[in-house]
Amino acid sequence: MLERCDVLARCSEEPGRLTRRFASPALAEARELVAGWMREAGLEPRHDAVGNLVGRRDGPGRTLLLGSHLDTVRDAGRYDGPLGVLVALAAADRVRDRPLPFALEVAAFADEEGVRYGTAYLGSAVLAGRFEAAWLERRDADGVTMADAIRGWGGDPGAVAGPRRDDLLGYCEVHIEQGPVLDDAELPVAVVEAIAGQTRARATFTGTAAHAGTTPMEARRDALAAAAEWIGAVEAAGRGTAGLVATVGELAVEPGAANVVPGRVVASVDVRHADDAAREAAVRALRERALAAGAARGVEAGWEELQANPAVPCDPALTDRLADVAAAVTGAAVPRLASGAGHDAVMLSAVAPVAMLFVRCDGGVSHHPAEAVRAEDVAVALDVTTRLLEELAA
Ligand code: GLV
Ligand code: MN
Ligand code: MN
Repeated sequence: MLERCDVLARCSEEPGRLTRRFASPALAEARELVAGWMREAGLEPRHDAVGNLVGRRDGPGRTLLLGSHLDTVRDAGRYDGPLGVLVALAAADRVRDRPLPFALEVAAFADEEGVRYGTAYLGSAVLAGRFEAAWLERRDADGVTMADAIRGWGGDPGAVAGPRRDDLLGYCEVHIEQGPVLDDAELPVAVVEAIAGQTRARATFTGTAAHAGTTPMEARRDALAAAAEWIGAVEAAGRGTAGLVATVGELAVEPGAANVVPGRVVASVDVRHADDAAREAAVRALRERALAAGAARGVEAGWEELQANPAVPCDPALTDRLADVAAAVTGAAVPRLASGAGHDAVMLSAVAPVAMLFVRCDGGVSHHPAEAVRAEDVAVALDVTTRLLEELAA
């Protein structure tokens, strides 16, 4: 599994660092490798309309779905996503000769991070029947519509907003914790109780580009100065509200020259809280702050909400089952954590009971090339997943 994570890490859009966005040639390359490993594990691989890769082993009755995602953030670590796919594949391989009273599928989702189009979970949304056809018109930074991107790697944009899966027995996902709790507690795995809600939006500040040497300060409509004031307010909101995290992670400044007053800024904002009302109130306040920061400088501020997902509880029964198995495998108590990170389980929760197993990662570092896991913890995750399959089959 770790060697395969290393192999997949070589599939990148950018030399020298790992970046694998939705529907990119690098993702197609990774998907091809995983399809080969699916065949080796006794699963029949196929692509769905958006480009998810799903390996299936037929069986009677409903389908148990395992998996995670293959896309990454920019300059990513190699375990966020792929580890869950590869543990699932290894578990499927371990039970390949054992009769199962259900069909088994392993999904390698095409977009969980939402880096290319600003909307997370494009992959799992399709299975959940929650893909919104309007998303297809969105353009990436190069102006490519989502519909064209999907067509470009063999998908069918006309079929992404299709029916939801109604045959799922459950969805179970292994993922690195992406936080420090397990590392601090010196424990290998935890189960997830709930996943925080998340809003992603885009703030646009439109002023007037002007000469940096000749335009008097009081005559300027500086879009970046307005954005900068607002970004300070975003940070302050996160610092000042218990449980709230708020991030501006992407900024486009136009025209983008040292001697030109910025005329236009487009900024991303990502707001999360375990409590939906607290998140929604924070988003409303940040929108008002953007408008006010613009108005103070004659800069027009716009706000577009790209995605809002409420907090999602994991399924209590499946989670208890997973926790019991994990306790039996590790011989220790298994913590129950809330996830601040988003996961494909958010979308799948609309159509199946979901459960997640977190694996310790060094120092809780994630969304960074220094992401690291221990082989012995990954072995525990594989044992737990295999045992869960065996118990569900019993
Ligand atoms: C995905 O990792 C997210 O939480 O944004
Ligand atoms: Mn992830
Ligand atoms: Mn991630």
